[in-house]
Amino acid sequence: MRGGTGFAYPHAMSTEQAATTPSTPSALNRDTFVARFASVFEHSPWIAEAAWDQGIGPEQDNPDGLHAALCAVLAKADRSAKIALVRAHPDLAGKLAIEGGLTQESRAEQASAGLDRCSPDEFARFQALNAAYTERFGFPFVIAVRGLTRAQILAAFEQRVANDPEAELATALVQIERIALLRIQDLFAPG
Ligand code: GUN
Repeated sequence: MRGGTGFAYPHAMSTEQAATTPSTPSALNRDTFVARFASVFEHSPWIAEAAWDQGIGPEQDNPDGLHAALCAVLAKADRSAKIALVRAHPDLAGKLAIEGGLTQESRAEQASAGLDRCSPDEFARFQALNAAYTERFGFPFVIAVRGLTRAQILAAFEQRVANDPEAELATALVQIERIALLRIQDLFAPG
């Protein structure tokens, strides 16, 4: 037995057991690990899949260790995969949000920043910035919104829309890594 999980044969753990056992990624079989951590990167299960394939050990049984393993996969990915990851994100206060088509994680993040309660003026600014930003960079504006106000998000949006495209891609990926860390911390949190 390893890691004090209480499971003599960790890879035989059922999906139900895994769902209630958040802190031992190294005890999960591939399907269960992917089911649990695929959503850490928006619509991009390939990152969890590759991380498991490269080996998940006891050093990944904490949020920072797991985050490091997942981000190492992203760092090694080619440019087109990185751009596809950024493109997998919905617009902030966008059409998908209005239609109720967001992932659970994105909906909660956007709601935590009050993006589901924009004034008509704020909403119009988001729509104009979303259009200008996507036109300029070819991917949507991504920012880790948790803990930010609508005014802070709009200010960052206005600043970043003027960025150089290469710098902006790098910034988007840093923000995606931060979103991933916050999502992993939620998955590790008890209850
Ligand atoms: N920041 C946190 N979650 C999201 C998201 O789903 N989309 C975008 N664009 N930014 C985010």
